Amino acid sequence: MPDHVSGPDSSLLRFFRTALLDWSHRHPRPMPWKGEKDPYKIWLSEIILQQTRVEQGLPYYQKFIAHYPSVEHLAQAPEDQLLKDWEGLGYYSRARNLHAAARYIAQQLDGQFPQTYEAIRALKGVGPYTAAAIASFAYGLPHAVLDGNVYRILARFFGVSLPIHTPQAQKVFSSLAQQLLPVESPAAHNQAMMDFGAIWCTPAQPQCARCPMQEYCRAFQEGRVAELPVKQKALVRKKRSFHYMVLRHRGEVYVRKRSGKDIWKGLWEFPYTENAVSEVLLSAGNARVSGPFRQLLTHQEITAWFYEMELPDELPEQMIQSGLLKDCQTMPFEALKKNIAFPKVIDCFFQSKDLTLN
Ligand code: ADE
Repeated sequence: MPDHVSGPDSSLLRFFRTALLDWSHRHPRPMPWKGEKDPYKIWLSEIILQQTRVEQGLPYYQKFIAHYPSVEHLAQAPEDQLLKDWEGLGYYSRARNLHAAARYIAQQLDGQFPQTYEAIRALKGVGPYTAAAIASFAYGLPHAVLDGNVYRILARFFGVSLPIHTPQAQKVFSSLAQQLLPVESPAAHNQAMMDFGAIWCTPAQPQCARCPMQEYCRAFQEGRVAELPVKQKALVRKKRSFHYMVLRHRGEVYVRKRSGKDIWKGLWEFPYTENAVSEVLLSAGNARVSGPFRQLLTHQEITAWFYEMELPDELPEQMIQSGLLKDCQTMPFEALKKNIAFPKVIDCFFQSKDLTLN
């Protein structure tokens, strides 16, 4: 069974915890909110540090502490002033949520900052990561922080190659992070994870050569540091082009129902060739061409062309032989849009023609 299913053994967990705390003592990163016990100030720092580098957030933290020394000050501030102070930091919803949460604390909670993980998590703008950070830093509660940095550290150290965005991976990483957390020092551990991810176990050029985890780091031992964590490949859509033939015959038109097991199963379509225009069509002569029409699917980019032709009463032998009309049936035009469903790209064609189907 792979380790991430059975769970790492306790001596490995102990090794990691000790090595991490030891590392953090040898590589201190002084920041004004470190060691802070006022939950308001911790909250402020964590909101500022969402989507923001420490160096960029630092002067804002100092400005906010000076302008709004308590949650009441923040609650009473005019929103315009708050947004002005936030200027340059981006993601302004953070400032608006901060304001709303400050008012909620001042008015509904009597100015008392919430003291449980769940109550902190319920504040506007506070997700699981921020709630775990505040709960551990302010109250020593045993909630492990989990973000991209932590995923990377865990994926490498434990050699987890599940793509990190899958629900299965999230369960595995969340469980690992929580098992690693020492209940006697969750704050120091969480802060050390953040710092270790930020300056040591970095995405590019990590400090493996002088890393204290090296000996038991699966990725390092197996030469897979650059491969981990595994991210889902950037989405590449397969390009396909369909050449649909709108063949009118004795006042009706050829259509067929899709039966293959794909996303268009059960929808109707005109006979088509993919990528190349049908030889039959080319040899049959005049067609009115419309297109291109595009449809983006999750994994495909469809381009469609439509060739409208009037067939003679006697079907050309070549058309019968070609197999183009296999599984097709004819329908009166007026039945098409009224009774049966087409893929969106064919609907686009109908709309563009503004077909009056009778
Ligand atoms: N990013 C988010 N919270 C942080 C913290 N407390 N220290 C360093 N980086 C952080």
